[in-house]
Amino acid sequence: MGDRKKKTLKKAVIIIVVGIVIIGLGTLGGIQYVTSAGNVKHASNEIILPAEDSNRAALVIYQPGRSEFAKDIADNLAKGLNDSGYQVTINYPGEFLPSDLGAYDIVAFGTTVYNGNFSPVLGDYVSGITNIDNGKVLIYSTGMMTDNSTELDGLSNLLYRKADYQEKFYSNKQETELKRAYEFGSSLGKS
Ligand SMILES: Cc1cc2nc3c(=O)[nH]c(=O)nc-3n(C[C@H](O)[C@H](O)[C@H](O)COP(=O)(O)O)c2cc1C
Repeated sequence: MGDRKKKTLKKAVIIIVVGIVIIGLGTLGGIQYVTSAGNVKHASNEIILPAEDSNRAALVIYQPGRSEFAKDIADNLAKGLNDSGYQVTINYPGEFLPSDLGAYDIVAFGTTVYNGNFSPVLGDYVSGITNIDNGKVLIYSTGMMTDNSTELDGLSNLLYRKADYQEKFYSNKQETELKRAYEFGSSLGKS
């Protein structure tokens, strides 16, 4: 092989290797970006859906992901509760929330799930709750895997009392799951 050909081959190999490294780093960065969503500490973003003619109160605390799915599920769940007569407060988990939730009749905690892990930010909040004795408790996750929901048990174990319901909403069946979240909220409010 001539010197010129060798040089061209060397150049091609370098370009291919650099390309592979860039694609690899980009993929890793993308995965890291998505999976870190559970660790992001958001500022308080309280939204209240007022109830007509009722003093029943529900709370929906959820950790958002990188897509809108977790938000949409929380909103639909809250809408279902609201339509069955509850004033609903929706917010992110954080130190700005009370640890005494004795004033709520229904409390829902929603976590993202990546690599089988629930959100540590939500976990920190749930483990600090001192009173949730007057309410029905739902712990749910928003993920993709139908054959594994260990994140629900992990998160439930951090609460001082047993949750009444555990549920998972699947991000690969968005449309039906958003409807199911609404119906779940609605039936929870009526039960
Ligand atoms: C790297 C990675 C790991 C994931 N691990 C899980 C998992 O262990 N269990 C699960 O149910 N879903 C898992 N998922 C799916 C996400 O939870 C699901 O797609 C989620 O709704 C995406 O949220 P987001 O795109 O809004 O951040 C994973 C997704 C990614 C990208």
